[in-house]
Amino acid sequence: MNDTTSLQGIGYDTFYALFDTPLAQQMRREVYGKDIGQHSWVDAQDLEQDIGRLQLSSASRLLDLGCGPGGLLSFVVGLTGCRGTGLDLSAAAIDCAATRMASLGLTDCATLQVADLDEPLPLDRHSFEAVMSLDVILHLRNRSQAFAEVARVLVPGGRFLFTDAAIVTGPVSDDEIRLRSVHGRTNFVPPGFNERTLEQAGLRVLATIDRTESLKAIAARRQAARLAHRTELERVEGPGAFDRHQRYLDCVCTLARRGAMARMMYVSESWGSAH
Ligand SMILES: C[S@@+](CC[C@H](N)C(=O)[O-])C[C@H]1O[C@@H](n2cnc3c(N)ncnc32)[C@H](O)[C@@H]1O
Repeated sequence: MNDTTSLQGIGYDTFYALFDTPLAQQMRREVYGKDIGQHSWVDAQDLEQDIGRLQLSSASRLLDLGCGPGGLLSFVVGLTGCRGTGLDLSAAAIDCAATRMASLGLTDCATLQVADLDEPLPLDRHSFEAVMSLDVILHLRNRSQAFAEVARVLVPGGRFLFTDAAIVTGPVSDDEIRLRSVHGRTNFVPPGFNERTLEQAGLRVLATIDRTESLKAIAARRQAARLAHRTELERVEGPGAFDRHQRYLDCVCTLARRGAMARMMYVSESWGSAH
């Protein structure tokens, strides 16, 4: 794994531009079994189970930070009847999300907006019963600030669920760090860091669950699906991108199998006062 300098340029917009093509849909079915429009390590079964922890009802307002193409937000809105708000830095992602909501007849139940989560959220205090953020927090510059913003927009007793695939649990080389960061800025943290930062932000940790197994399985299936569709992918992604992506997935699998990097799911509750 020496040539890591050529790994730039497989950022999220590249995927979102092709997200709704028949090839991308076919590959998601091969990778996830159930295609709910995710672009992450989220397994629909895990999500269905985890979402119960948010205690959503049709009266709830749910915020999805880094909603990407809106698959997960539309899935949860469809499942619970709650109202959803999705924010993402990528305009291409927000376009995909809007198309998806419309195709599912959920446009009236959702608000979608381009926003940078490294900045204060463009949302009022105490305006959500629940916040979720799936495989996004690792990209943010300052978790303390991001979690404080979550605490601000949650109602007292509101819940925050997120996953983080960048928990360093063993030795990791500089080449591996570069390979693992191909989607842009990635902040790697030690075990316990998220729990402490949540508590400091006024969010009581209710549960942490190791979700590394889903990541391992999804990364391996993604590699296999990409290999099966190599010719079509090389045509759309351009020269070199195919190998770069396979090396990234190989790195993700290797780190997880070696016990050097974990993906964790966290649920916390706001203890902020109503005033
Ligand atoms: C792995 S994708 C996950 C998307 C979605 N949560 C899902 O599971 O399908 C990470 C998302 O985080 C978004 N993101 C990264 N940095 C961000 C930032 N500073 N502000 C807002 N969104 C950001 C990316 O655009 C991308 O859509």
